[in-house]
Amino acid sequence: QLADKLKTKWQAPSNIALVKYWGKHGMQLPANPSISFTLNNCHTETSIKATLADQHGFHISYEGEPKPSFEPKIAEFFERITPYCPWIKNYKFEIDTLNTFPHSSGIASSASSMAAMASCLMDFEQQLTGGKHDKAKASFLARLGSGSACRSLDGQLVVWGEHEQTPDSSNLYGVNVENLLHENFENYRDTILLVDKGEKTVSSTVGHELMNGHAFAKARFHQAHDNLTSIKKALKDGDYDSFIKITESEALTLHSMMMTSHPYFILMKPNTLSIIEEIWAYRKETGVPVCFTLDAGANVHMLYPDEYADQVDELIKSKLASYCQKEHYICDQLGHGASRL
Ligand code: PMV
Repeated sequence: QLADKLKTKWQAPSNIALVKYWGKHGMQLPANPSISFTLNNCHTETSIKATLADQHGFHISYEGEPKPSFEPKIAEFFERITPYCPWIKNYKFEIDTLNTFPHSSGIASSASSMAAMASCLMDFEQQLTGGKHDKAKASFLARLGSGSACRSLDGQLVVWGEHEQTPDSSNLYGVNVENLLHENFENYRDTILLVDKGEKTVSSTVGHELMNGHAFAKARFHQAHDNLTSIKKALKDGDYDSFIKITESEALTLHSMMMTSHPYFILMKPNTLSIIEEIWAYRKETGVPVCFTLDAGANVHMLYPDEYADQVDELIKSKLASYCQKEHYICDQLGHGASRL
């Protein structure tokens, strides 16, 4: 029995990978396992109203305004998930969404938005079947929208991709491994320095394809497994030194893969490198365990323990902000995944 009308509202956060997912095959299956911190402040809020209809359809607005440019991605998402949620075919959806981070900040919203959509749809499925909210299935659906989105359902630390040393890990959805986190990582900070707010020059779809036939692909995928094993240990032991070495090396490896593919890309900007040098100099001088990671772009994520927040804030205000576009940066920290609003 299908209800005439359904509605719900969810929020889901962005996430930042420590061991990076780069390369995929089949239907959004990762070439290597990855692990990420779930963020808190950078998130998407999505409300959906579903109405029983003869034909499936949807309408999307962003901050209350119609947003036709989002339609193709969402149409594709619905098409991919319908086999797993056949009831979708009987509904028209009115989707209203917004991001808490600036739309043109160079921070990808695909992870948070797909995770928020998937959460809303699983909420409907629960309303229709009377079962339990299925977070693993929400992660599975989000993956079909954008691979890394499957790591945005849960907090604070999530593994996606089969990994021998991670029980229950799967290529199909993310698994929560926050029980690994040593108290040294409690409320861990991520300040995102916005070096370049422009559209990405390499979409992640194109980026993942660059790993097909990449000269170093095999070694890279192998390395990701080893790095995941090592970083899990560092997170469990509260070992900042090892954590920093693996995290920074992963970021540079991601960019090395792009520099050594065909076609090749340099996604860092001069200011990205300046910031990295400043972070290294500061760490050497003060011993504060602050490090960086990068996405497939020029912006720098600065990761550091909560207890050093004031000190690092001073560094950012006095020096690093000047390397950012309009001196803009976003303050974030570990969060707990998607939640109903
Ligand atoms: O989820 P996608 O297809 O946008 O790929 C994301 C890839 C990286 O952000 C570069 C790495 C990662 O693991 O999040």
